Amino acid sequence: MKTEVVKITDIRAQQAELARAGKILRGGGLVAFPTETVYGLGANGLDADACANIYAAKGRPSDNPLILHVADRAMVDTIAAEVPAMAEKLLAAFCPGPITLILRRKDIVPDRITGGLQTVGIRMPEHPVARAMIRAAGVPIAAPSANISGRPSPTTAASVLRDMDGRIPLILDGGPCHFGVESTIVDCTEPVATILRPGAITREMLAEVLGGVKLDPAIVGAKTVPKAPGMKYKHYAPDAPMTLLEGPAAKMLPAFRRQIRRLLGEGHRPGVLASTEVTAGLRDILPAERLMDYGPQGDLPTIASNIYEKLIACNDTDADILLGEGTTEQGLGLAIMNRLHKASGFHSIVI
Ligand code: TXA
Ligand code: MG
Repeated sequence: MKTEVVKITDIRAQQAELARAGKILRGGGLVAFPTETVYGLGANGLDADACANIYAAKGRPSDNPLILHVADRAMVDTIAAEVPAMAEKLLAAFCPGPITLILRRKDIVPDRITGGLQTVGIRMPEHPVARAMIRAAGVPIAAPSANISGRPSPTTAASVLRDMDGRIPLILDGGPCHFGVESTIVDCTEPVATILRPGAITREMLAEVLGGVKLDPAIVGAKTVPKAPGMKYKHYAPDAPMTLLEGPAAKMLPAFRRQIRRLLGEGHRPGVLASTEVTAGLRDILPAERLMDYGPQGDLPTIASNIYEKLIACNDTDADILLGEGTTEQGLGLAIMNRLHKASGFHSIVI
């Protein structure tokens, strides 16, 4: 199959391209599309056979449920059996935006996409191309991130093409994604809302709207089974093993220099995924191509938006071992650290 990449820069002028995407989706085909978090791999969410194509294209385990993307509030009611008060509050405060609500599902949602669960994840993306495409399709769109299962999520059309070339007919290119990490998943089916996956809608923002919010213990590395099935899989990991250095920003550079000297002494070719400050301070001991700069120390929005592309870039180097720089776990830092912990298999050194 030939994969076509179509740049969408003007939604009104490009209605014909969006209508074509809608037609492919209604016909059971797959279309990759931009959202404000990461690129999604879309199919008609009410068509179990169409969704089966997603699992095949990604190599995704079949027990990992898909979330459904809607264009507006009315579409939520077509798939959710009930919208509890806390979910109404979240819809009002954050939708459209980078959040997914777990709600009880209606029977119209195929069993096969929820992995047999009685609940469904619902997300109303803010990206204009995503919204226009869902409207053109006229149905809720099932979409996981548009990567091969286990790899980092793509935040550019080029990264989607790298994983999906030849597997899908169409990629809508809406430029780089704004946030760069997947949506915050909030389970709204219990009396107290629980974050199942941290994202750009932070724990602090949720607590402000809801009063209380819990954190699934699996997020912070506790050895429990996560409630979001996809969170149990190895994910985001670059080819070379990675160790995360965690601690105060001021101690980072000396700690990196110590670790790198040790690794060089052992005959390794270390690579580094770290801040502008740390990578700049390592130029005298490591070649530039093994220094992946994820953004200025403490600039969490920039780090989040770069993290996956930089993880992907690690595989383009000849590094045989990687050192990553941890951030705070406050605010957006919780989402960044969750991805870095998974990418490093929870292998950390506290400095
Ligand atoms: O930002 C995002 O959410 C992106 C864009 C494309 O919208 N999508 C995304 O989908 O990240 P995916 O499939 O890569 O991640 C969805 C996560 C998985 O970990 C899955 O196990 C979990 O949501 N999930 C889906 N349905 C669920 C349910 N009913 N209960 C609990 N977790 C669920
Ligand atoms: Mg994913």
